[in-house]
Formats: sequence, C-alpha cells, structure tokens
Amino acid sequence: MCGIIGYCGPKPAGPILIQGLRRLEYRGYDSAGIGVLSDGDVAVFKKKGKINNLAEVVPEDLPGTCGIGHTRWATHGVVNDANAHPHADATGKIVIVHNGIIENYTALREKLEEDGCVFASDTDSEVIAHLLASLYEGNLEKTMAQALTLLQGTYGIVALHADEPDTIVGARNGSPLVLGIGDDEMFLASDVTAIVAHTKQVVYIEDGEIISITPSTYHLTDQRRNTVDKKIEFISWELEEIEKDGYAHFMEKEIFEQPDSILRAMQGRIDHEYATSHLGGLNMSRAELLNTERVKIIAAGTSFHAGLVAANLIESIARIPCTAELASELRYRNPIVERNTVYFAVSQSGETADTLYAMRELQRKGARVLGICNVVGATIPRESDGGVYIHSGPEIAVASTKAFTSQLTAFYLFALLIARMRDMSYEGGKEFVQALESIPEHIRSMLSRVDTIRSLAKKYAGVADFLFLGRGLNYPVALEGALKLKEISYIHAEGYSAAEIKHGPIALINEQTPSLFLVPDDALRDKVLSNMKEVKARRGPVIAVCVDGDRDVAEVADDVIEIPRASTVIYPFLMVVPLQLFSYYTALELGRNVDQPRNLAKSVTVE
Ligand code: F6R
Repeated sequence: MCGIIGYCGPKPAGPILIQGLRRLEYRGYDSAGIGVLSDGDVAVFKKKGKINNLAEVVPEDLPGTCGIGHTRWATHGVVNDANAHPHADATGKIVIVHNGIIENYTALREKLEEDGCVFASDTDSEVIAHLLASLYEGNLEKTMAQALTLLQGTYGIVALHADEPDTIVGARNGSPLVLGIGDDEMFLASDVTAIVAHTKQVVYIEDGEIISITPSTYHLTDQRRNTVDKKIEFISWELEEIEKDGYAHFMEKEIFEQPDSILRAMQGRIDHEYATSHLGGLNMSRAELLNTERVKIIAAGTSFHAGLVAANLIESIARIPCTAELASELRYRNPIVERNTVYFAVSQSGETADTLYAMRELQRKGARVLGICNVVGATIPRESDGGVYIHSGPEIAVASTKAFTSQLTAFYLFALLIARMRDMSYEGGKEFVQALESIPEHIRSMLSRVDTIRSLAKKYAGVADFLFLGRGLNYPVALEGALKLKEISYIHAEGYSAAEIKHGPIALINEQTPSLFLVPDDALRDKVLSNMKEVKARRGPVIAVCVDGDRDVAEVADDVIEIPRASTVIYPFLMVVPLQLFSYYTALELGRNVDQPRNLAKSVTVE
C-alpha cells in the first residue's frame, strides 16, 4: 500500500526513482510522483495514473542526485494530480512522501490553516509538510522528531529540505521503511523490491525510529532520540525473481512457480526417519508443543482462507481444537487469551495492518503468536514469538497465488509435527509425508494441460455472477476461488459450503448464473454430487472440478476440469490451482489489468 523510495548518492536521482517506483507499482498505482533536490530547489513532478504517465513528464536530463518518490493507493482525497505525492509546504522547500494515515490530520490542518497555511490537496499527508515547515529551525532531522510528537496515526514518511542538500530524513510508525546501503549511495524504501537492483545490504527501520541519510552516512535514532547501531541484514532475493521471466504477467509466473515454491516451503523440514517435520523457527520446546491445547489462526483475505483450511486439517489430524478468525474482527472484540494456546498470524507480506495490530493485541494479553510469512524481515515475523518463513520468493501480482499454497505447506508441516506427537502413527506419518511430497509433481502435471481451463474462461467470461461451492477441506478453497475471480475479473462471485446453498443462495440459480463445484473423491463427494443435481434441476450451469475419470460427476456437470487422483488430504492444493488459472484466463479474456486490478494494492498497511 503506497510505495516509497528515496535516493541519495552520486548518480542522477530521476531514473533511479522512476525505476524504483516501477518495482513498487504493485503497492499502489493510482498516481505517482517524485521530488528531486537541485541547486537549492526541489523539482516536483506528479501525475495521476501509472508510472508511465509520470515518466513522460520527467525530463530525461533532470539535474539532482538526491530525491524521493511515491506511488499512491488513495485513502484521503480522490485520485488526481494534486492529491498525488510528494506534497510540499508553502515555500516548496520541504517536500514529503507518506504511506499510512494521519488520524488527527483534521485538527492539525485547522490549526495550520488558522496560522495562514494554504493547502493544495485533500490528503491527510499534506499536513506533514506544513507541520514540518512550521517547526523548522535549520535541521530537518530534529524537526522530524518534534513533528512526530504531534502526529497520530500510521506512517512511513520520507522528507527532504531544499536547504539541506544530499540529506533525506525518514520516520516510521506502522508503515514499513527500510534503509539500503550501497557504495557511496543510500536508499530508503517501503520495501526491498525497490532497491534490490542496487544493494542487498539493508537495515529495517522500527516504529518510532528516525533515519537520516546522506550519500555516505546514515544516522538512526530510537524513540528517545538516542543513536542506535543496528545489524545490517542481507536480502536473499535475486533481481530476476522480481522480473516476469518471459511470462505475460506476474500472476501467471507465480501460478506456474508453485511446484517449486511449495518444494522450497518443505525443503529441509521433513524428517523421513521419524515421519515428522522440523520447524525450528517456532522457538517452542517439545514439552511446550505437547502441552499445546488449542491453535488459533488470524489473517486476512487469501491468508485467512489458508488459515481456514489449516484449522480443519489441524483439528482433524492433530486432534487439537483449532479455529481461524479474521484478524480485523479479533482485534476489536476483546478476545480471551487462554493458556496453552498457540496463535498463528498468517501474512504473505508480513505488513498487513489488520493482522499486525491483532497480533500486538494478543501479545499484549500475554499470548504466544507465531508468524507464517513470506517477506523476510517484515514487521510480523520480526515482532512474532517465532514462526515459519514460507520462502515463496517475491509475490508481485496483487492477487495472491503461490503464497497461499506455501502457507498451506507450512501449516501441513505443523499439523504433521503435532499429529505425530499425539495420535498419528509412524505409518500414518509416512503416508502423510508421501502425500505432501507428491504435491509439486501433481501440480506440474496440471500446469501442462491448461487448455480446458482457458476455453472455459472464454465460455463463461460474459456472466455477471458466479458461485463457488466446496465442502470440508475444500470449502475454504471455494472461498478463495470466488475471491480470486472477483478481484481480478470484477465478476461478482461468492463462495459457499455446497451444503449451504439450500439455505438461501440457491435462490440465485438461473440459466445465467454458473456454479463451480469442487468435487474430489473424498468422504463428502456424494453429498456434493447431490448439491450439483439440485442446481442442475434449476437449470443452473455447472462446472465441476473433479478427479480424472469421475464419470458420475461428468454426467451431471456441463463442464469438467479434471485433477489427478491423490490422497484426499492434499486436494486443497490441487483444487486451488485450476481456480487461480480460471480467474487469470477470465481476467485476460475481459481485458483486465491482471497484476494491478482496480482499487486494490499489495500489502494493505492501513486498517
Ligand atoms: C487476495 C489477496 C489479499 C491478501 C490480504 C492479506 O489475492 O492478496 O486478500 O491475501 O490482503 O495479505 P497478507 O497475506 O500480505 O497479510
């Protein structure tokens, strides 16, 4: 959500900022801008729309080697040039970019307006520029410290002052900020994808800290404004990982990467000798694991759907009560934290505000919260009490795909670990491991025959509404299929338990409303088959995802997508891939912007 970049070094800042913004565009893409310092002035360019619109108005020979940039996901104020960042004070000397929400901006704005400030935008962010100007006495770093005592809300702020050449000051509270250390050049960014082309040495900025950079130095202070010396960390991602690598879209690439990304999530974590798993990052002793009486999962969106599958699996194979809940709801309902309960905060980005704040609330009440995250060094894994990195590699498409299957993998390994400490026999463990290890190959075989899905996407792309129906472990997969379709194709889609349709949604069925049923050959197959017949009886078109050669299903359904016959426990992995492809091809058919769907952004760092 909103991308930020700052550069200070010997090279022209313009192209570096524009390139960084292109890499950050997935975080927000309704407008973008840069501000570059040169000869005691800050030249500001900003434009509604994609980075290309901005690039067209920035002169190629723009002078200046120190500057800041921003790609916006609007919170306050419509999408237009004026509301795009950077924002400046009245003199144009102080220029800022901001990610987050300033909650007391109305009061601050009123006060600043009383003092004569004229605002040029409708954003909350602009108050930061005027506030800094009203406090400025010759030192931007000190002024930032003063301003933070007056700002309420969340922020990643990066600012510069025309009178302080070669200096950028950043501050963070709740919105990510990272320092990149290069050779005689420094970077500030909202995430490492913006700077990985230039440096792999980073320092993660924490809430309350202020960072000031020049081309060759950086100075970091904590909340009490004491200087802090932090460990420099290394980014393990390669530049190629954040490029499309011959695929038309990041989403396509990420769907096709799944055999490898699932394998990476498993690697080194399976103990074949004892048919169990190793998850050292949990930071829990065997006794603590054995004493665990409950598991609770919090997350948002796709990560929540992974949590729902996990809750069903953990309870059924590890025999301990497990539930999944939306993090946004948990935070505000004063949850009861019980003893011997392990919480998981699941988040691809590790920065989702709803999940992060719920995690902090649980920790404040004394809970142990483990993270299941992808982005190494993000806030949730840093602040959690332990956890599992899923190692999917960067997920750039806004619609999450490979992170989902890797989150599932992490949970399956955790379920195995706990199950083997309880009821699951060695033989049972071996079967489970075998099933788990067969997933990448099954997915690989499915990805080599995508033509049916592509032609079904063509056939159904014109519909207005869609139902996704599944049961048991695959009920959350139906929710995920509906979410994928609506977010990138804009077709209205709902996911339900197939059993639930008779309690209301069946009223929607008519010849124009297709239902996609997930019908694996598990214990609930016959029941789902009956639900399919109920829909057919009402002339609803039916697509079924079923195992190869399931004739009963094929007889009832209008269209069939076949998946390999496998151990029932792994069907959520095999069911979700066709749904990801179906939404991808449907969105293509409708000419949608697949990687950057309207109104959305990757990494939702506001509540
Ligand atoms: C859907 C999607 C979102 C995210 C949600 C949580 O495709 O990407 O629903 O899953 O915003 O994000 P993370 O996992 O980063 O916490």
